[in-house]
Amino acid sequence: MRRAAAIASVVLAATATPAAADTTAPWVVLGPDGAVVRVATTDAACPRIRYDDFDRPMQVRVGPWEAYPHTVCEAPLPAIVQRASFAGRAIPLPRPEPRRIVVLGDSGCRLKGGSVQACNDPAQWPFARIAAAAAAMAPDLVIHVGDYHYRETPCPQPGAGCEGSPYGYNWGAWRADFFDPAAPLLAAAPWVMVRGNHEDCERAGHGWFRYLDPRPRPPDCEGFTEPYRIAFGDFSLVVHDSAIARDQNPRDAEIERHRGQLAAARALATPESWLLTHRPLYGVYKFEPTTRRPILTNETLQAAAAALGPDPFRAVFSGHIHRFDAFSFAGGQPAQVVVGGGGTALDPSLDDPPPDLAILGARVSRLTSTTGYAFLFLERGGAGWAGALYDADGRARLRCRLDGKTMECDP
Ligand SMILES: [Fe+2]
Repeated sequence: MRRAAAIASVVLAATATPAAADTTAPWVVLGPDGAVVRVATTDAACPRIRYDDFDRPMQVRVGPWEAYPHTVCEAPLPAIVQRASFAGRAIPLPRPEPRRIVVLGDSGCRLKGGSVQACNDPAQWPFARIAAAAAAMAPDLVIHVGDYHYRETPCPQPGAGCEGSPYGYNWGAWRADFFDPAAPLLAAAPWVMVRGNHEDCERAGHGWFRYLDPRPRPPDCEGFTEPYRIAFGDFSLVVHDSAIARDQNPRDAEIERHRGQLAAARALATPESWLLTHRPLYGVYKFEPTTRRPILTNETLQAAAAALGPDPFRAVFSGHIHRFDAFSFAGGQPAQVVVGGGGTALDPSLDDPPPDLAILGARVSRLTSTTGYAFLFLERGGAGWAGALYDADGRARLRCRLDGKTMECDP
């Protein structure tokens, strides 16, 4: 910058009125102690929100820090509140018994070294379309099964379709990967946030604890967090943190840690209970081309679960693999559902399973696997849940039904 211009800009900075505060729209996270409303603001003080006919203060969750210029403010959202709003926008209220649930995961735009997605092209990175289509379903609840932040390294060259993208572990990347595209779905319903491996402490973990983990924020990033339950009468969601659980070559310490965590998660199960964990517990990544031997999605979790006996959950919902899989088993093992087509570059479908396929000793009685950008919508009715896998334009691709521990999906 030339000296005259530099002086002019200093003068301008000294005399201009301060920039207006940048405050986000509110979002609502469900956790073990109920719902919490959050906003992020560059203002010096946390704003107030309106519950029914009263204004109420928000508290500081965490102040600005390095690449995170906002203070994150929060307030509990008690079940008794009938109407809630912030700056004239309605805040979505939790339902005591949610009946319409959206499940999606693995939604960010991949920028990591040579793995590059065209973040600026809604056909190549359609998370915003998925969020809008899912919001149109008017859900009572949204479950994100993890992996929100994918923009880790710079867009490499002009023509890649990601020009100008923010990247790294900072607010800009979180906003571009999650908060902006998710906006209509954040406005539609409270969310259950599951932590993915992209949110471990070596990656976007600081952002995870600033914005999304539902509990009081720990002083520093924590590698493991304890399982918790969100209860809705007889139905409940039990959330397990599998951010650190090596897919292959498991380490004894991780197996032990998850054995304790999965046992604690099972102790929280109710008669109608789903386990939410980012890495599929009973899944297959792919079959070896020649032997057809299954390569398991997660050897750590399977080794941890092997000694625990019968699994009380109806179903396990996961992501991590970027496609849709629905496994059902003979015997008492829960259905394993993988909903990982939320926007990140896709994995191929799991085709031609061997006829004797078994996972943790339980024979697979039914397997549906399909690739494509998609979210799952399930509605409770009668004894089970029925719905569909929808594409980014909101068109039903598979009709699905979860009955007991069986998940059936058909074109
Ligand atoms: Fe993942």
